[in-house]
Amino acid sequence: MSKLLVTGGAGFIGSNFVRYWRAAYPDDLVIVLDALTYAGNRANVADLEGSDKFLFVQGNILDQTLVEDLLRRYEIDTLVHFAAESHVDRSILGPDAFIETNIVGSHCLLKATRQVWLEEWTGKRTVRFHHVSTDEVYGTLGPEDPPFTETTPYAPNSPYAASKASSDHLVRAYMETYGLPVTISNCSNNYGPYHFPEKLIPLVITNILDDRPLPVYGDGLQIRDWLYVEDHCRGIDLILKSDRVGECFNIGGNNEWANIDIVRLICELMNEAMQDEIYREAFPKALSAQRGEAERLIAFVTDRPGHDRRYAIDATKTKMILGFMPKESFATGIRKTIQWYLANETWWRDVQTGEYRQWIATQYDI
Ligand code: NAD
Ligand code: TYD
Repeated sequence: MSKLLVTGGAGFIGSNFVRYWRAAYPDDLVIVLDALTYAGNRANVADLEGSDKFLFVQGNILDQTLVEDLLRRYEIDTLVHFAAESHVDRSILGPDAFIETNIVGSHCLLKATRQVWLEEWTGKRTVRFHHVSTDEVYGTLGPEDPPFTETTPYAPNSPYAASKASSDHLVRAYMETYGLPVTISNCSNNYGPYHFPEKLIPLVITNILDDRPLPVYGDGLQIRDWLYVEDHCRGIDLILKSDRVGECFNIGGNNEWANIDIVRLICELMNEAMQDEIYREAFPKALSAQRGEAERLIAFVTDRPGHDRRYAIDATKTKMILGFMPKESFATGIRKTIQWYLANETWWRDVQTGEYRQWIATQYDI
């Protein structure tokens, strides 16, 4: 039986992870530590609350005393670190929060685990610090370049990617210097339920439902490698259960799409969904999709500065060593995702708070 501390467990991937873990290992204790920033939402884990195997703690990863206290009090043996500022566009407008949370906050967690696990428990228990990172640390690829492997040199281009790269280096240094048992995963773009609607896929789905423009940056030919969020969670599970301490693993979907093609695909699927009377009634504003013309909402807008052209993950190592293979195909995963947003209007309306609308208004002149 394990005792997990999951930072950022009220965010998109973190909340999917704790739900995944509860189903896979119902006897494990799972404690979520989350500051509930604009991207965190307690409703994301509401279905898990009330169990004596689950605890939600509202707190900041920068609070080292709190983290040490949780490690001691609940005898945590596994820390899975998701908490981060995660939106590239926000990192361009205001990098400070990214430096604070992603670098200084990650360092606080490393200091806390070093203190409790190595100094106080003198390294006698089997413990693991798993750091959840991104493929964005590797920079950008040309059209013919081979996908990123675990040995691709780091070349981050946005403040977000640079802050994640810094934290990866700190995690590695704590293993090399102090012997902290760590693992790192670098994953490609995730999609699925509970994805905050400032990110491309949920933004497009929810904007179609409100008949708002669909902002596509630049020429829309930038490529991302999309993975269904539950597959990412399974990849982390395989890493945690393996004995490959000190190693990095790439996780990806082998599923490259140009942004404009994703947007067009979602338009097509939303046009299709809106032929159903139930959805026509539920979403009366979705007039373009109801007419079968959602793509008319596409609006090409000014490109993101320093926009990485292409990401692609080579997950051969993770497949060969851990047997990782994505279970969800993109064809099924994107349909499931659309269905989730159609069925959970209250969730996405609630997260589209004043702050969200203000943010969107600063972004586009459409
Ligand atoms: P998210 O923005 O949806 O969630 C982040 C969570 O962290 C939120 O619940 C937020 O409240 C919490 N948080 C932020 N600052 C905190 C702080 N100082 N203390 C405690 N909690 C804090 O992000 P996400 O998309 O779920 O990403 C989770 C992790 O996965 C991040 O580390 C991100 O870099 C990484 N990642 C994301 C993707 C992706 O496609 N979304 C891909 C690869 C890796
Ligand atoms: P995003 O979901 O922000 O993830 P990331 O930047 O971490 O890859 O964006 C995915 C891609 O979609 C990225 O190339 C930027 C682009 N994009 C748009 O074209 N329009 C949008 O409104 C957003 C949010 C993103």
